[in-house]
Amino acid sequence: MRHHRLALCAEHFLDWFVSYTQRTIEEFHMFSSSDRLLVAVSGGKDSLALWDTLARLGYQADGLYIGLGIGGDEGYSAASQGKAQAFADAHGLTLHVVDIKKTYGESIPELARRTGRGRGKPCSVCGLVKRHVMNRVTLEGGYAALATGHNLDDEAAVLLQNTLRWQTGYLARQAPVLEATHPGLARKVKPFCRLYERETAAYALVRGIDYIYDECPHASGATTIFYKELLNRLEGHSPGTRHSFYLDFLRAKKKGQLLLPAEEEPDLHPCQQCGQPTTAPGLCAFCRLWA
Ligand code: AMP
Ligand code: FES
Ligand code: ZN
Repeated sequence: MRHHRLALCAEHFLDWFVSYTQRTIEEFHMFSSSDRLLVAVSGGKDSLALWDTLARLGYQADGLYIGLGIGGDEGYSAASQGKAQAFADAHGLTLHVVDIKKTYGESIPELARRTGRGRGKPCSVCGLVKRHVMNRVTLEGGYAALATGHNLDDEAAVLLQNTLRWQTGYLARQAPVLEATHPGLARKVKPFCRLYERETAAYALVRGIDYIYDECPHASGATTIFYKELLNRLEGHSPGTRHSFYLDFLRAKKKGQLLLPAEEEPDLHPCQQCGQPTTAPGLCAFCRLWA
């Protein structure tokens, strides 16, 4: 790990990885040992490595798998659910499963097709539905926070996209912790935000975690992947680029050195149907989509 000037064997890498995550949790005041957590588990390497790490650190962490219905009975969603469930069973952990089709009537691809949203790609519909369900289950379960497996590569790619377009509103909000600014909003945390994707992959492999290797079939050609590749090239040229790009951004923001708009409290009120907070009059975006 050239950015840390550190080279570790398998055994010490595992120890380092777990304690580095704990230091990230403390540095960003994510949660404490008495908090009950919900981990959003996709069956991929990042979220399973996160669940594994939080359980090893002694946190009370349940999992949430959202069944999107991508790829039919033996496709991507079914296979990733299998990985998440097998991990939960092997470690004696609780996994909540929300199957979108069984709960709401249609799978993500069916909903995207019917509503014609996303120009043939279900990703925007999928993102909206996942955010709604994660928020609902976190609040209904009384969890202190929702943890996702976003890593440094994810965060740096989003930061690059937002910076290139000077999306100052998004930049003001991009953070490892999103506070629950409203009683209907769950607190969200990203304990892997300082870890490279290579590191989470190495952890999953060395630890022997069985995860789904495939990406969602709709992800190919996604813009985030393009920005990740750009950052990979920069990283190859000067190691540590992503680390300093993202962490120096967070540091400068904390010190008030970036000219970003003050975070305005949006005018939120409960959706008439589901009760989740929304800026829209009447129905929230999730309920409008289904309607
Ligand atoms: P992605 O947006 O696919 O890169 O995923 C980012 C994070 O969202 C993952 O690390 C998981 O924590 C969570 N996530 C993605 N898909 C699912 C899913 N189907 N069920 C539960 N959590 C998910
Ligand atoms: Fe949601 Fe691919 S469209 S994971
Ligand atoms: Zn609603």
